[in-house]
Amino acid sequence: MAALLFHSPYDDPGAWRDLFAKEMPDLPVRVWPDAGNPAEIEFGFIQSLQPGELKRFPNLKAVFSGGAGVDHLLKDPEYPRQVPIVKIVQKQMTLGMTQYVVLHVLRLHRQQPAYQAQQREHVWKEIPQPGAWDRTVGLMGLGDLGGAAAKALAELGFKVRGWSRTKKRLKDIECFHGKDGLEPFLKETEILVCMLPLTAETTGIVNARKLSMLPKGACFINLARGKQHVDADLLAALDSGQLSHMTLDVFFPEPLAPDHLYWKHPKVTVTPHRAGNSSREAVIRDTLENIKDFRAGKKLRNRVNTKAGY
Ligand code: NAP
Ligand code: GLV
Repeated sequence: MAALLFHSPYDDPGAWRDLFAKEMPDLPVRVWPDAGNPAEIEFGFIQSLQPGELKRFPNLKAVFSGGAGVDHLLKDPEYPRQVPIVKIVQKQMTLGMTQYVVLHVLRLHRQQPAYQAQQREHVWKEIPQPGAWDRTVGLMGLGDLGGAAAKALAELGFKVRGWSRTKKRLKDIECFHGKDGLEPFLKETEILVCMLPLTAETTGIVNARKLSMLPKGACFINLARGKQHVDADLLAALDSGQLSHMTLDVFFPEPLAPDHLYWKHPKVTVTPHRAGNSSREAVIRDTLENIKDFRAGKKLRNRVNTKAGY
């Protein structure tokens, strides 16, 4: 009997199991750690399992990441490399991420942190405001999520540029790629948004050297992974004025320690890794459609390139 192994350290597994069972009653769900007979596990829906666990299931056909990011799976040195990994590409998540980017880019562009500070002091003072057409927003990562956010920002009239690993041509977006494209991309980026997957190449990518390439007073938003930025370098850049504000949804480690400097820093906005916002129902529906089609002999959708790491 084929079964699906479900693992989530964050959420109510019973609620997920019931929804899976409702949508596909012929695929029993085993909630980690009660996997039952390991030979029966053909699919995994995994949010963040200890390394070394998945290799125990000899008949795994595919592992569905509980997120768009698959770094939690690929960091397992014993991951059974022949088993395809599928990432979430989900309309609600794309909308949630796009909304987060639009919200925080607009908030920074329209100088809301400075106006909030003025309000606390009862100060009525206009701050010079450039138009969106004079503001350059740069997205690191132009994939399913970064690409959608870039398009939305272009529609709002911003000068949008993006940086990816491979060359791209996108309407209304100035595209840069590869290591050589990074400095020219950063040089004019006033609001930098990180939407990269976490890989060996992107770990620590937002560091003092890269920050120094930005125009003075730039802003930074990270909604990808906390390991992509270097905390000490961000704080130093805020102190020197190289960065004027940053908005972070992701941290390493998570949750952010209660005594971390970010919480009270006047130039930092913290949100608790909730930028992507999709319902269980939608994620389960898309996962099961993919499984159904795969069982009927079709190709898996949204399979990651494990060599590239995303
Ligand atoms: P994706 O579709 O795989 O796109 C990744 C993008 O990054 C691609 O454009 C890729 O370039 C680019 N890239 C990868 N490595 C690069 C490198 N070394 N140099 C330059 N560009 C590189 O990923 P996605 O679905 O958009 O998701 C992005 C990330 O968002 C996820 O991995 C996850 O960590 C994060 N996320 C966070 C939340 C949250 O709630 N905060 C929610 C969902 C996702 P190519 O186009 O050339 O391949
Ligand atoms: C969330 O961080 C995800 O990768 O979906």
